[in-house]
Amino acid sequence: PASPVRVAVTGAAGQIGYSLLFRIASGQLLGPDQPVILQLLEVTPALGALRGVVMELEDCAFPLLAGVTTSDDANVAFGDAEIALLVGARPRSKGMERKDLLEANGAIFTVQGKALSDNAAAGIRVLVVGNPANTNALIAQQSAPNIPAERFTAMTRLDQNRAKAQVAGKVGVPVTEVRDLAIWGNHSATQYPDLFHATVGGRPAMDVIGDRTWMEKEFIPTVQQRGAAIIEARGASSAASAASAAIDHVHDWVLGTGDGGWVSMAVPSDGSYGVPEGLISSFPVTCAGGQWSIVQGLEIDEFSRGRIDASAAELGEERAAVRELGLIG
Ligand code: NAI
Repeated sequence: PASPVRVAVTGAAGQIGYSLLFRIASGQLLGPDQPVILQLLEVTPALGALRGVVMELEDCAFPLLAGVTTSDDANVAFGDAEIALLVGARPRSKGMERKDLLEANGAIFTVQGKALSDNAAAGIRVLVVGNPANTNALIAQQSAPNIPAERFTAMTRLDQNRAKAQVAGKVGVPVTEVRDLAIWGNHSATQYPDLFHATVGGRPAMDVIGDRTWMEKEFIPTVQQRGAAIIEARGASSAASAASAAIDHVHDWVLGTGDGGWVSMAVPSDGSYGVPEGLISSFPVTCAGGQWSIVQGLEIDEFSRGRIDASAAELGEERAAVRELGLIG
């Protein structure tokens, strides 16, 4: 059998962690033949709760789970990790300004970026889930001189999955019929879910839907505001769906997108589609051999242009703010 892959997860005792860890341990992250060792990071006060989660992991008797470690020290938790899922973050509390939020998260992601740089395996791949995910990923990347920049990504797969489900529901087809649905920009309310390149049953999605007003007035706001709608309905933020999207993101990055079409990942921009270089922005990508590449040559009309630019501008403002705080160079 293959030797186990070390997968580090931060915020492991949280809501997303409670869904994510069991799916990783069951083989859904890296496939049914790949044993894993979970290396779990939490803040000190949460280590007791984390111990309970570890007891439950044991009680699942997962054949692929070759070990579990816990720590409140990132240098320990990231040791020899090949995958790191950075889920733990400082949530926005009431009355907190954006600057304070970025600062609080900066304190976490500078430390974790450096700890990854110093301790992770050479092949480390990082997915940031904790919000503000794109900018947290940028901070971690800039704090990790030993890790190639393209190994830092942030999650917009949940947005893509939400968008696919909306389209499938609208036209009454299985989600598998909806392909190449890209999310552009920031994982925030400015994100742009793009139906102009998507297909439904092999035909252009906009032709099949036949309702531009729905796209502009219902589809886009529904996807952008879905997180808030879940909080409103459930009384807690989306967790199982976020964990599921994290599984999809890393699975496809490591094992490839094959003939499954595009997926959405926030990755360091190379300037493609006018998104300023270095911003960690969502693009349509394909993955092969453990590498992502931005889908090139797409025609961007005026409507899409405006939305992509607006979200990139927001990311640029966040970068300027964390630069001003001295969190990145
Ligand atoms: P949660 O509050 O239930 O869990 C977060 C956990 O992180 C807590 O157990 C906390 O103790 C831990 N934590 C905080 N600081 C830490 C640190 N420095 N090191 C290690 N652990 C730390 O939150 P939940 O629901 O699990 O969400 C986690 C994050 O994911 C939030 O920032 C949320 O906004 C974000 N999120 C992102 C989504 C996306 O699509 N990118 C979707 C849904 C949530």
